[in-house]
Amino acid sequence: MISFKQRDIISIRHFNKEELLYILDMAKRMEQAEYTDILKGKVLASLFFEPSTRTRLSFESAMKRLGGMVIGFAEPGVTSVAKGESLSDSVKIIEGYCDIIVLRHYLEGSAQLAADVVKIPVINAGDGANQHPTQTFLDLYTIQKTKGTLEGLTIGFLGDMKYGRTVHSLAYALAYFGAEMYFVSPPGLRLPRDFMEALKDRKVKCHENESLLGISKRLDVIYCTRIQKERFADPVEFEKVRGIYRLTKTMLEEFGIKDDLKVLHPLPRVDEMDDSLDATDFAVYFQQARNGVPIRKALLAAVLGTIE
Ligand code: CP
Repeated sequence: MISFKQRDIISIRHFNKEELLYILDMAKRMEQAEYTDILKGKVLASLFFEPSTRTRLSFESAMKRLGGMVIGFAEPGVTSVAKGESLSDSVKIIEGYCDIIVLRHYLEGSAQLAADVVKIPVINAGDGANQHPTQTFLDLYTIQKTKGTLEGLTIGFLGDMKYGRTVHSLAYALAYFGAEMYFVSPPGLRLPRDFMEALKDRKVKCHENESLLGISKRLDVIYCTRIQKERFADPVEFEKVRGIYRLTKTMLEEFGIKDDLKVLHPLPRVDEMDDSLDATDFAVYFQQARNGVPIRKALLAAVLGTIE
């Protein structure tokens, strides 16, 4: 029997295909019915050590719409971390004030570290360039809703494969569904070799390219990503790839695409995706961002054990 009760959500690698589908089904239920008080009396601590709009606010919206309460911060400079308190000490203290922790932090492994030192569930809202599992759940949900299936799709990931944590999580999850994957990036931003090996070990058909030219017609989904400026150790290296891709409606029409192509983007976008795409049928990224609420409602309800 599948149960998420009191489980941490740290990496998409910790979930099997049935568990992924279970949360997608629960998100659908969350959209179909009003569950206004199933988290009444529960407190979520929302701890954001890095900027966020979608993840933080959709978690807070989900918690409040289910009757729960939210404490936390979006600016660690106003907490005792600014006085030198460790992450480990901070979460041990905050554990006493809440029922569940949602943590975004710039260090890879930070969510696992927090989960190791507290007894309440921890949800990873993004740890450095590593993982962003709740984004993956909403990406899968969006693909399932807009393509009608998750099975056997051909996905083109475009942009920053090296630092893009959403790519790392989503590629792993899509491997359960027999996806063929094209990773399109400049040479310096290719998918880390350990992620590539993990996909190949799972018999995923993977390709690496520097352009969508010649492959766009094969794609069911383009998953466009921002170059993650904040992860570059050397600003000179960022300048070499700044603005290297700019997805436009005209470009896709010239390159050739399937009629039912869908374009996703975890957002925020900077310059990699032109707003000429926004009014097209293949742009689903705003819908994708909205799907953050039913998915995070489902995860909170499942982890806090208020719904089966
Ligand atoms: N997709 C995403 O993680 O967006 P935010 O950084 O705004 O949370």
